[in-house]
Amino acid sequence: MELTSPDAVVAALGSTGYLADDDLATVVYLAHGMQRPLLLEGEPGTGKTALAEALAAVADVPLIRLQCYEGIDASQALYDWDFPRQILHLRTLEAATKAGELDPNEAEKSLFDERFLLARPVLRALRESPAVLLVDEVDRADDEFEAFLLEVLSGWSVSIPELGTVTAGTPPTVVLTSNRTRELHDALKRRCLYHWIDHPGLEREVAIVRSRLPEVSQRLAEQVVGVVQQLRSEELLKPPGVAETLDWARALHRLGVEELDLETAARTLGAVVKYREDTDRVKQALDRMMAG
Ligand SMILES: Nc1ncnc2c1ncn2[C@@H]1O[C@H](COP(=O)(O)OP(=O)(O)OP(=O)(O)O)[C@@H](O)[C@H]1O
Ligand SMILES: [Mg+2]
Repeated sequence: MELTSPDAVVAALGSTGYLADDDLATVVYLAHGMQRPLLLEGEPGTGKTALAEALAAVADVPLIRLQCYEGIDASQALYDWDFPRQILHLRTLEAATKAGELDPNEAEKSLFDERFLLARPVLRALRESPAVLLVDEVDRADDEFEAFLLEVLSGWSVSIPELGTVTAGTPPTVVLTSNRTRELHDALKRRCLYHWIDHPGLEREVAIVRSRLPEVSQRLAEQVVGVVQQLRSEELLKPPGVAETLDWARALHRLGVEELDLETAARTLGAVVKYREDTDRVKQALDRMMAG
Protein backbone atom coordinates (compact mmCIF):
# COMPACT_ATOMS: atom_id res chain seq x y z
CA MET A 1 0.00 0.00 0.00
CA GLU A 2 1.35 3.44 -0.95
CA LEU A 3 1.64 6.05 1.75
CA THR A 4 1.14 8.98 -0.61
CA SER A 5 -0.66 11.33 1.78
CA PRO A 6 -1.69 11.54 5.43
CA ASP A 7 -5.13 10.31 4.39
CA ALA A 8 -3.58 7.31 2.70
CA VAL A 9 -1.71 6.60 5.95
CA VAL A 10 -4.98 6.70 7.93
CA ALA A 11 -6.54 4.27 5.47
CA ALA A 12 -3.53 1.95 5.36
CA LEU A 13 -3.16 1.77 9.14
CA GLY A 14 -6.92 1.43 9.45
CA SER A 15 -6.85 -1.67 7.30
CA THR A 16 -4.74 -3.34 10.02
CA GLY A 17 -7.12 -2.22 12.77
CA TYR A 18 -4.95 0.69 13.91
CA LEU A 19 -6.90 3.94 14.06
CA ALA A 20 -4.63 6.97 13.76
CA ASP A 21 -5.74 10.57 14.05
CA ASP A 22 -4.71 13.18 11.49
CA ASP A 23 -1.74 14.49 13.47
CA LEU A 24 -0.21 11.07 13.88
CA ALA A 25 -0.93 10.17 10.26
CA THR A 26 0.82 13.34 9.11
CA VAL A 27 3.99 12.68 11.05
CA VAL A 28 4.01 9.06 9.89
CA TYR A 29 3.58 10.22 6.31
CA LEU A 30 6.48 12.66 6.66
CA ALA A 31 8.78 10.22 8.45
CA HIS A 32 8.13 7.71 5.70
CA GLY A 33 8.67 10.14 2.85
CA MET A 34 11.71 11.82 4.37
CA GLN A 35 13.19 8.54 5.60
CA ARG A 36 13.51 9.86 9.12
CA PRO A 37 13.15 7.88 12.33
CA LEU A 38 9.91 8.51 14.17
CA LEU A 39 10.16 9.20 17.88
CA LEU A 40 6.91 8.54 19.72
CA GLU A 41 6.33 9.56 23.29
CA GLY A 42 3.15 9.23 25.29
CA GLU A 43 1.45 7.68 28.27
CA PRO A 44 1.59 3.89 28.58
CA GLY A 45 -0.93 2.06 26.44
CA THR A 46 -1.53 4.77 23.88
CA GLY A 47 -0.55 2.70 20.87
CA LYS A 48 3.15 3.48 20.38
CA THR A 49 4.29 -0.09 19.99
CA ALA A 50 1.15 -1.01 18.07
CA LEU A 51 1.91 1.70 15.51
CA ALA A 52 5.23 0.07 14.61
CA GLU A 53 3.45 -3.27 14.31
CA ALA A 54 0.83 -1.72 12.06
CA LEU A 55 3.47 -0.07 9.86
CA ALA A 56 5.23 -3.39 9.35
CA ALA A 57 1.91 -5.04 8.49
CA VAL A 58 1.04 -2.28 6.02
CA ALA A 59 4.37 -2.54 4.23
CA ASP A 60 4.35 -6.33 4.56
CA VAL A 61 7.90 -6.31 5.93
CA PRO A 62 9.27 -7.90 9.09
CA LEU A 63 9.02 -6.05 12.38
CA ILE A 64 12.34 -6.25 14.19
CA ARG A 65 12.09 -5.22 17.79
CA LEU A 66 14.79 -4.01 20.09
CA GLN A 67 13.44 -3.84 23.62
CA CYS A 68 15.59 -1.44 25.61
CA TYR A 69 16.29 -1.89 29.29
CA GLU A 70 18.65 -0.56 31.90
CA GLY A 71 22.18 -1.65 31.13
CA ILE A 72 21.59 -2.66 27.50
CA ASP A 73 24.75 -2.22 25.44
CA ALA A 74 25.81 -2.35 21.82
CA SER A 75 26.52 -6.09 21.81
CA GLN A 76 22.90 -6.79 22.73
CA ALA A 77 21.67 -4.49 20.01
CA LEU A 78 24.13 -5.32 17.25
CA TYR A 79 25.82 -8.69 17.44
CA ASP A 80 27.59 -11.10 19.65
CA TRP A 81 29.71 -14.15 19.11
CA ASP A 82 28.30 -17.47 20.18
CA PHE A 83 31.00 -18.26 22.68
CA PRO A 84 29.90 -21.76 23.73
CA ARG A 85 29.66 -22.85 20.11
CA GLN A 86 33.04 -21.34 19.31
CA ILE A 87 34.59 -23.35 22.14
CA LEU A 88 32.96 -26.52 20.91
CA HIS A 89 34.22 -25.83 17.43
CA LEU A 90 37.72 -25.33 18.74
CA ARG A 91 37.61 -28.60 20.67
CA THR A 92 36.41 -30.41 17.57
CA LEU A 93 39.23 -28.89 15.56
CA GLU A 94 41.77 -29.95 18.15
CA ALA A 95 40.42 -33.46 18.30
CA ALA A 96 40.40 -33.79 14.53
CA THR A 97 43.92 -32.52 14.04
CA LYS A 98 47.08 -34.33 15.03
CA ALA A 99 49.09 -32.71 17.77
CA GLY A 100 51.20 -29.84 16.49
CA GLU A 101 49.37 -29.57 13.17
CA LEU A 102 46.70 -27.07 14.13
CA ASP A 103 47.54 -23.69 12.65
CA PRO A 104 46.58 -21.18 15.36
CA ASN A 105 45.89 -18.42 12.84
CA GLU A 106 43.63 -20.60 10.74
CA ALA A 107 41.89 -21.89 13.83
CA GLU A 108 41.24 -18.38 15.07
CA LYS A 109 39.95 -17.26 11.71
CA SER A 110 37.48 -20.12 11.58
CA LEU A 111 36.06 -19.01 14.92
CA PHE A 112 34.88 -15.69 13.58
CA ASP A 113 32.74 -17.11 10.90
CA GLU A 114 29.19 -16.10 10.04
CA ARG A 115 27.81 -19.25 11.61
CA PHE A 116 29.01 -18.20 15.06
CA LEU A 117 27.60 -14.72 14.69
CA LEU A 118 24.53 -13.90 16.75
CA ALA A 119 22.84 -11.09 14.87
CA ARG A 120 20.90 -8.86 17.24
CA PRO A 121 17.99 -6.60 16.20
CA VAL A 122 19.93 -3.62 14.80
CA LEU A 123 22.20 -5.78 12.67
CA ARG A 124 19.24 -7.84 11.52
CA ALA A 125 17.40 -4.69 10.54
CA LEU A 126 20.37 -3.51 8.46
CA ARG A 127 20.63 -6.85 6.74
CA GLU A 128 16.95 -7.64 6.29
CA SER A 129 15.71 -4.18 5.37
CA PRO A 130 13.17 -3.28 4.02
CA ALA A 131 11.97 -3.83 7.56
CA VAL A 132 10.53 -1.85 10.44
CA LEU A 133 12.96 -1.49 13.32
CA LEU A 134 11.18 -0.78 16.59
CA VAL A 135 13.47 0.59 19.28
CA ASP A 136 11.05 0.21 22.15
CA GLU A 137 11.26 2.19 25.40
CA VAL A 138 14.55 3.85 24.55
CA ASP A 139 14.28 5.98 27.71
CA ARG A 140 15.19 2.91 29.76
CA ALA A 141 18.63 2.67 28.16
CA ASP A 142 21.49 4.92 29.24
CA ASP A 143 23.27 7.83 27.55
CA GLU A 144 25.99 5.70 26.10
CA PHE A 145 23.51 3.48 24.37
CA GLU A 146 21.70 6.49 23.01
CA ALA A 147 24.97 7.69 21.48
CA PHE A 148 25.41 4.28 19.88
CA LEU A 149 21.90 4.45 18.41
CA LEU A 150 22.56 7.90 17.07
CA GLU A 151 25.59 6.61 15.23
CA VAL A 152 23.66 3.75 13.67
CA LEU A 153 20.72 5.98 12.73
CA SER A 154 23.09 8.44 11.10
CA GLY A 155 24.97 6.02 8.91
CA TRP A 156 22.94 2.86 8.38
CA SER A 157 26.13 0.97 8.43
CA VAL A 158 28.12 -0.84 11.09
CA SER A 159 31.49 -2.40 10.94
CA ILE A 160 32.21 -5.77 12.47
CA PRO A 161 35.98 -5.99 12.86
CA GLU A 162 36.14 -9.71 12.11
CA LEU A 163 33.70 -9.70 9.20
CA GLY A 164 33.63 -6.30 7.56
CA THR A 165 31.07 -3.56 7.10
CA VAL A 166 27.35 -4.16 6.90
CA THR A 167 25.35 -1.45 5.16
CA ALA A 168 21.60 -1.39 4.69
CA GLY A 169 20.55 -1.38 1.04
CA THR A 170 17.31 0.33 1.95
CA PRO A 171 17.33 2.09 5.32
CA PRO A 172 14.77 0.45 7.60
CA THR A 173 11.75 2.36 8.81
CA VAL A 174 12.62 3.22 12.39
CA VAL A 175 10.18 3.82 15.22
CA LEU A 176 11.55 4.77 18.62
CA THR A 177 9.24 4.85 21.61
CA SER A 178 9.69 6.40 25.00
CA ASN A 179 7.58 6.62 28.13
CA ARG A 180 9.61 9.63 29.08
CA THR A 181 11.01 8.29 32.32
CA ARG A 182 13.92 10.51 31.36
CA GLU A 183 14.50 13.11 28.70
CA LEU A 184 16.32 11.94 25.57
CA HIS A 185 19.25 13.87 24.19
CA ASP A 186 18.74 16.64 21.71
CA ALA A 187 21.13 15.04 19.26
CA LEU A 188 18.97 11.92 19.03
CA LYS A 189 15.80 13.97 18.86
CA ARG A 190 17.24 16.06 16.06
CA ARG A 191 17.55 12.97 13.87
CA CYS A 192 13.92 12.08 14.43
CA LEU A 193 10.51 13.43 13.73
CA TYR A 194 8.71 13.67 17.03
CA HIS A 195 5.15 13.02 18.05
CA TRP A 196 3.43 12.90 21.41
CA ILE A 197 0.56 10.40 21.38
CA ASP A 198 -2.30 11.47 23.61
CA HIS A 199 -5.07 9.29 24.90
CA PRO A 200 -7.70 9.11 22.18
CA GLY A 201 -10.90 11.09 22.41
CA LEU A 202 -14.17 9.37 23.25
CA GLU A 203 -15.29 8.66 19.72
CA ARG A 204 -11.99 7.33 18.49
CA GLU A 205 -11.51 5.16 21.55
CA VAL A 206 -14.94 3.59 21.02
CA ALA A 207 -13.92 3.00 17.40
CA ILE A 208 -10.67 1.39 18.59
CA VAL A 209 -12.59 -1.00 20.85
CA ARG A 210 -14.93 -1.86 17.98
CA SER A 211 -12.01 -2.36 15.62
CA ARG A 212 -9.99 -4.56 17.98
CA LEU A 213 -12.94 -6.36 19.56
CA PRO A 214 -15.73 -6.58 16.99
CA GLU A 215 -17.58 -9.00 19.28
CA VAL A 216 -18.16 -6.23 21.84
CA SER A 217 -21.38 -4.26 21.23
CA GLN A 218 -21.39 -0.57 20.45
CA ARG A 219 -23.36 0.07 23.64
CA LEU A 220 -20.91 -1.73 25.92
CA ALA A 221 -17.94 -0.13 24.14
CA GLU A 222 -19.44 3.31 24.74
CA GLN A 223 -20.07 2.60 28.41
CA VAL A 224 -16.61 1.24 29.05
CA VAL A 225 -14.89 4.09 27.23
CA GLY A 226 -17.13 6.59 29.00
CA VAL A 227 -15.95 5.42 32.41
CA VAL A 228 -12.31 5.01 31.38
CA GLN A 229 -12.19 8.54 30.00
CA GLN A 230 -13.43 9.86 33.33
CA LEU A 231 -10.89 7.74 35.18
CA ARG A 232 -8.15 9.53 33.27
CA SER A 233 -9.13 12.82 34.81
CA GLU A 234 -9.15 11.42 38.36
CA GLU A 235 -5.43 11.86 39.01
CA LEU A 236 -4.83 8.18 39.60
CA LEU A 237 -1.37 6.76 40.26
CA LYS A 238 -1.71 4.93 36.98
CA PRO A 239 -4.32 6.29 34.59
CA PRO A 240 -5.66 3.55 32.31
CA GLY A 241 -4.45 3.44 28.71
CA VAL A 242 -6.17 2.01 25.66
CA ALA A 243 -4.71 -1.35 26.64
CA GLU A 244 -6.79 -1.29 29.84
CA THR A 245 -9.91 -0.18 27.99
CA LEU A 246 -9.55 -3.17 25.69
CA ASP A 247 -8.90 -5.49 28.62
CA TRP A 248 -11.95 -4.30 30.45
CA ALA A 249 -14.21 -4.63 27.43
CA ARG A 250 -12.80 -8.09 26.80
CA ALA A 251 -13.37 -9.10 30.43
CA LEU A 252 -16.96 -7.84 30.44
CA HIS A 253 -17.71 -9.57 27.19
CA ARG A 254 -16.34 -12.79 28.60
CA LEU A 255 -18.72 -12.48 31.55
CA GLY A 256 -21.59 -12.08 29.13
CA VAL A 257 -22.22 -8.51 30.24
CA GLU A 258 -24.19 -6.44 27.80
CA GLU A 259 -24.98 -3.46 29.93
CA LEU A 260 -22.47 -2.11 32.42
CA ASP A 261 -23.99 -1.57 35.86
CA LEU A 262 -22.37 -0.28 39.04
CA GLU A 263 -21.92 -3.66 40.65
CA THR A 264 -20.37 -5.31 37.61
CA ALA A 265 -18.11 -2.32 37.09
CA ALA A 266 -16.86 -2.51 40.67
CA ARG A 267 -16.34 -6.26 40.42
CA THR A 268 -14.28 -6.11 37.24
CA LEU A 269 -12.28 -3.01 38.06
CA GLY A 270 -9.09 -5.08 38.23
CA ALA A 271 -8.93 -5.04 34.45
CA VAL A 272 -8.51 -1.26 34.46
CA VAL A 273 -7.11 -0.11 37.77
CA LYS A 274 -3.96 -1.75 39.06
CA TYR A 275 -3.10 0.06 42.27
CA ARG A 276 -4.87 -0.50 45.54
CA GLU A 277 -4.99 3.24 46.30
CA ASP A 278 -6.55 3.85 42.90
CA THR A 279 -9.09 1.08 43.43
CA ASP A 280 -10.29 2.54 46.72
CA ARG A 281 -10.60 5.93 45.21
CA VAL A 282 -12.38 4.78 42.07
CA LYS A 283 -14.87 2.61 43.94
CA GLN A 284 -16.04 5.65 45.85
CA ALA A 285 -16.46 7.70 42.70
CA LEU A 286 -17.86 5.01 40.45
CA ASP A 287 -21.56 5.77 40.83
CA ARG A 288 -20.93 9.40 39.90
CA MET A 289 -18.97 8.29 36.84
CA MET A 290 -21.53 5.78 35.71
CA ALA A 291 -24.26 8.37 36.00
CA GLY A 292 -22.25 10.89 34.02
N1 LIG B 1 -4.99 4.00 17.75
C1 LIG B 1 -5.14 2.70 18.03
N2 LIG B 1 -5.77 1.87 17.18
C2 LIG B 1 -5.93 0.57 17.45
N3 LIG B 1 -5.45 -0.03 18.57
C3 LIG B 1 -4.80 0.74 19.46
C4 LIG B 1 -4.61 2.13 19.24
N4 LIG B 1 -3.95 2.63 20.29
C5 LIG B 1 -3.73 1.62 21.13
N5 LIG B 1 -4.23 0.46 20.64
C6 LIG B 1 -4.19 -0.86 21.28
O1 LIG B 1 -3.99 -0.64 22.66
C7 LIG B 1 -3.08 -1.58 23.20
C8 LIG B 1 -1.90 -0.87 23.83
O2 LIG B 1 -1.11 -0.29 22.83
P1 LIG B 1 0.49 -0.36 22.85
O3 LIG B 1 0.96 -1.56 23.52
O4 LIG B 1 0.94 -0.06 21.48
O5 LIG B 1 0.77 0.90 23.78
P2 LIG B 1 2.16 1.58 24.11
O6 LIG B 1 1.95 3.03 23.87
O7 LIG B 1 3.25 0.90 23.40
O8 LIG B 1 2.22 1.32 25.66
P3 LIG B 1 3.52 1.16 26.62
O9 LIG B 1 4.04 2.55 26.78
O10 LIG B 1 2.91 0.63 27.87
O11 LIG B 1 4.45 0.22 25.94
C9 LIG B 1 -2.69 -2.50 22.08
O12 LIG B 1 -3.51 -3.64 22.13
C10 LIG B 1 -3.00 -1.68 20.84
O13 LIG B 1 -3.30 -2.50 19.76
MG1 LIG C 1 4.89 -0.19 24.10
